[in-house]
Amino acid sequence: MYRSHNCGELRLTDTNKEVTLAGWVQKSRDKGFMIWVDLRDRYGITQLIFDEARTHETIMQQAKSLGREFVIQIKGSVIERESKNANIPTGEIEVLVNELTILNEAQLPPFTIEDETDGGEDLRMKYRYLDIRRNPVKNSLLFRHKVTQEVRNYLSNMDFCEVETPYLIKSTPEGARDFVVPSRMNPGQFYALPQSPQTFKQLLMVGGLDKYFQIVKCFRDEDLRADRQPEFTQIDCEMSFIEQEDILNVFEGLTRHLLKKIHDIDIAQFPRMTYDEAMRKYGNDKPDIRFGMVFGELNAVTQHKDFAVFNNAELVVGIAVPDAASYTRKQIDALIDWVKRPQVGALGMVYCKCELDGTFKSSVDKFYDQTDLAQWADATGAKAGDLIFVLSGPAYKTRTQLSALRMELANRLGLRKPDEFAPLWVMDFPLLEWDEETGRYHAMHHPFTSPKKEDMHLLDTDPGKVRANAYDLVLNGNEIGGGSIRIHDKETQSLMFKHLGFTPEQAQEQFGFLLNAFQYGAPPHGGLAFGLDRLTAILGGQETIRDFIAFPKNNAGRDVMIDAPAAIDNAQLDELNLALNIKG
Ligand code: AMO
Repeated sequence: MYRSHNCGELRLTDTNKEVTLAGWVQKSRDKGFMIWVDLRDRYGITQLIFDEARTHETIMQQAKSLGREFVIQIKGSVIERESKNANIPTGEIEVLVNELTILNEAQLPPFTIEDETDGGEDLRMKYRYLDIRRNPVKNSLLFRHKVTQEVRNYLSNMDFCEVETPYLIKSTPEGARDFVVPSRMNPGQFYALPQSPQTFKQLLMVGGLDKYFQIVKCFRDEDLRADRQPEFTQIDCEMSFIEQEDILNVFEGLTRHLLKKIHDIDIAQFPRMTYDEAMRKYGNDKPDIRFGMVFGELNAVTQHKDFAVFNNAELVVGIAVPDAASYTRKQIDALIDWVKRPQVGALGMVYCKCELDGTFKSSVDKFYDQTDLAQWADATGAKAGDLIFVLSGPAYKTRTQLSALRMELANRLGLRKPDEFAPLWVMDFPLLEWDEETGRYHAMHHPFTSPKKEDMHLLDTDPGKVRANAYDLVLNGNEIGGGSIRIHDKETQSLMFKHLGFTPEQAQEQFGFLLNAFQYGAPPHGGLAFGLDRLTAILGGQETIRDFIAFPKNNAGRDVMIDAPAAIDNAQLDELNLALNIKG
């Protein structure tokens, strides 16, 4: 038996028990006649004591040789501590050691294994297994397990059946690039790793499985950000014989279940907002609604004066920053510079201080009098003491810029409280979005999403206006899930492919399997996928998903621990029929 107890469970009530513990040496303090060692495992830390008066000399000597992160096993008796440590659950006891076995020695770790470590990001990624020993990372992984377990419980109790779908597939267009895998047995041909199991889950519905879920890895070769990894995990779900309302209810239920189980928070009904409304009010299709700063459109109250910038703009829009009228010129200039950075791209920004005495002071006082400015305050909901920022230009671009400013200010003002949860359904997304690069429409969600019946007639005349039966679940300004009601008949699906620029032959070649399946009795169906990494991170009060993934990739898509991706040798390339090009 390696251990009778773990390092987190002994209490005063265990005094005088003979115990066996195993773990890592967190640190040791050697006072010569007495040595204390903090022994750590997944469950906690227990203090060991070696005492010249009570411990055998050879064991004292052994104890002196212990270094950080040595793996040891000890036997000893639980005694009450003289100086207790109220900060840890085992802080009232220590174990007087009478037997010590060094199970494995350890080199000095490249960074300290403490909650606050001295190791930089890169170093910790390289030695991820050591980073996992630290509480913040370990706890994030345990937290993820808890979320996953609750998801499985909830869905299984609702009769969802977990099915695994293949990883070696043919590309499913979801907007990102595919990772491809060469086939040795089929020279010159490639599998693609799934960006999601979208078509397979739909085929499971054709197969009559009715309610499916899968906690599944997805692969997307896209640029990385804090909330994106090239391989990530979805809670992928699909249901048959349902309407949009059924889907929203089931997955709102799942999210509510998680908030309750994990944070003991009750949220009655999730608010809903159309995509258009989200864009108008927040300039963003995943608005953080934990705080205000709702957009106020100012065209009506700013145009027809002598300020050409506003007169010529498609949109003039502002937000009221709470209690910021006292900002100095320097602070305001810094924010103007912030929106002018290329990442945001505004050409300039107008401001108006709503002074506490009820007067207004703006950067465009030359053009607008107090009555005008009072209307700005009205439109943006600004109160005395607030500061209004105004941007103008093309509608979509300007909204996006103001949204970036809104989020930046909220971060700076501490308005995005990690322990406050504000879910939101965003609905009625556009079916198609215009892609400048390729000069054609792309499916905004994916090509299998059904258009709204009442908008179908616009497909030929004004495709950009067609709305989809598509919805996203947003939590605290992050898209944690998205889905849609699917097309389930061959004609509509073929029409969709046509609008996406596929010839009938191309559609048949790429998606023949799905079009064929739709001819054999496809039930009406729809679904949704959560991003598990994002969901977990946000439930854990963070926005960076990396710490909730055991072995993440860095921003360049590399695993710096195993050093992947890497070159492969010529023999392997030969075998895969890839050698020719490389050898030239
Ligand atoms: P979608 O592409 O919206 O939908 O993806 C669903 C959810 O997956 C998460 N996600 C990511 N998380 C981490 N890293 C990434 N690179 C990444 N990309 C996406 C997001 C997102 O909301 N098949 C459809 C779902 C459906 O229609 O049922 C799909 O994949 O949280």
